Amino acid sequence: MTTIHVLNGPNLNLLGSREPETYGTQTLANIEAKLAAICKAHSVSLQFRQSNHEGELVTWIQEAGRASEPIIINAGAYSHTSIALMDAIKGTNARVIEVHLSNIHAREPFRHHSYISGAARGIIMGFGALGYELAITAILSDIAISAK
Ligand code: DQA
Repeated sequence: MTTIHVLNGPNLNLLGSREPETYGTQTLANIEAKLAAICKAHSVSLQFRQSNHEGELVTWIQEAGRASEPIIINAGAYSHTSIALMDAIKGTNARVIEVHLSNIHAREPFRHHSYISGAARGIIMGFGALGYELAITAILSDIAISAK
């Protein structure tokens, strides 16, 4: 059974109470529950994790890459700073979809560049928590196409 890895970076553990006008009111646990239900309905398994530590995210990307399993990543602020995350993604065979709750291009200039984007299969941003569901839909559709 394919596993979809959903990786969340720094401060995303605070979703729900963190700047709700920007990130919405859903908690990470709410998002995980929604994705778990979608994955169950499609007979794929879900590995949903969050870390405030860059190296831990690198390790998880490598782990998914070794298994050639797809990744959805919201790297939070590391998106804008982390060459290590970009290298980890480039170094794996894993298919990566980058997600941001907010539209980073409509925000401060320092958020406009993401090191992840150039290494990602696609990017979903600005749709709040729905972005994670859209990313799962994209992965499920990729899986269905590659199974044909
Ligand atoms: C974010 C956008 C980043 O700029 C920010 O640092 C985050 C969350 C988003 O989901 O919109 O932590 O990745």
